[in-house]
Amino acid sequence: MNPFLPTTVAEAEQQSQRLDVRAIREDFPILRQTVRGGKPLAYLDNAATSQKPRAVIDAITRFYTQTNSNVHRGLHELSERATNAYEGARATVRQTLGAAEDREILFVRGTTEGVNLVAQAWARPRVKPGEEILVTEMEHHSDIVPWQILCGQTGAKLVVAPITDGGVLDLEALDRLLGKKTRLLALAHVSNALGTINPVQRIVEMAHAKKIPVLLDGAQAVPHMPVDVRAIGCDFYAFSGHKAYGPTGIGALYGRAEHLEEMDPWQGGGDMIASVTFEKTTWNKLPWKFEAGTPDIAGAVGLAAALDYVAHIGWGPIQAYEETLLGEATVAVAAVPGVRVLAREAPRVSVVSFTMEGVHPHDIGTIVDLNGVAIRAGHHCAQPLMDRLGVHATARASLALYNTREEIKALVEGLRQVNEVFGR
Ligand SMILES: Cc1ncc(COP(=O)(O)O)c(C=O)c1O
Repeated sequence: MNPFLPTTVAEAEQQSQRLDVRAIREDFPILRQTVRGGKPLAYLDNAATSQKPRAVIDAITRFYTQTNSNVHRGLHELSERATNAYEGARATVRQTLGAAEDREILFVRGTTEGVNLVAQAWARPRVKPGEEILVTEMEHHSDIVPWQILCGQTGAKLVVAPITDGGVLDLEALDRLLGKKTRLLALAHVSNALGTINPVQRIVEMAHAKKIPVLLDGAQAVPHMPVDVRAIGCDFYAFSGHKAYGPTGIGALYGRAEHLEEMDPWQGGGDMIASVTFEKTTWNKLPWKFEAGTPDIAGAVGLAAALDYVAHIGWGPIQAYEETLLGEATVAVAAVPGVRVLAREAPRVSVVSFTMEGVHPHDIGTIVDLNGVAIRAGHHCAQPLMDRLGVHATARASLALYNTREEIKALVEGLRQVNEVFGR
């Protein structure tokens, strides 16, 4: 049982009331504006990227106005402070993910770079022709294409575990596909296109029982639930700061120290070396072995501020509130004539992905935008998933801790207008 989740309906209700959404919205300056000729902005595109609280914006401004300097190199005070801020941010990420040691946290540009790092630095030297990388039908392109590139480089084969029509991973099929040739299982903790939560702890146990390492794509999980990589037991875990109220251009890859120690760097340059001669170069220690060049220092500081912001509010109230809002949004959207909500019965977080009979999702997105409602329409970088579900695209509303019932109402009102425009 998740110790962070409320255990009774009454407790959930109490916790969701503990989240003061009005006060939280005050923390996000961008939400105060109107769009499209005076309509209050209803930002429901959080799975694409979240908005940033004042605490994050201020932390970045403070860094550039008071601390800016390069890290790990200078002997002067500013460099020392910048280094402390950057390494302090790493400690915050380590704590957030429940990792054992700071050296297991690598700063990367985001989930995409984290997956590519594992593909090139871990898999490429190890995977042999004919061996298999197992992914699932619900992956984001960033957990498909790096593996296709790797397969092209090594002669390995990409194998795909199926999902059900209801958008849930078929665990029996997955278990069957975890075979003697499988070198790595790579899958999403939470699907970006459907919001489906995968039972990752159980899946990792299944894979580890066959000695197969697991990489988790946590891009859509970290913003909505506490993550504990040691409890989950995974080998690698990647996420992006910008979806978790932090800045763009920064994210982290967790890797178990035993793997990272064995791996060679994937990029060369400053900071990742211990010594360099023209004859021979030796590598720096973890984690810096994997951080060639000047990192996104201000980004790391901003990311830590975002993680601190969420930790300060607490997962109990956030999860209870988001769960209540998602339930209400699902019922309200599904009640609009012609709407079909995908993966409706699946355990989900944040996302309502839907189609409307006879209407292209781009038209849905365009019409609700006239009401100030920002949603996503398209394939959500998950084209194989769209093919599997027999749709070209979906409309996707994705919620964050600052969204409100009024914003859901504005979305539903927009969907009714879609029906009017299309003569229903
Ligand atoms: C599940 C999932 N994985 C990976 C990514 C890629 O994240 P980024 O573009 O921040 O690297 C996304 C972004 O939409 C995502 O939702």
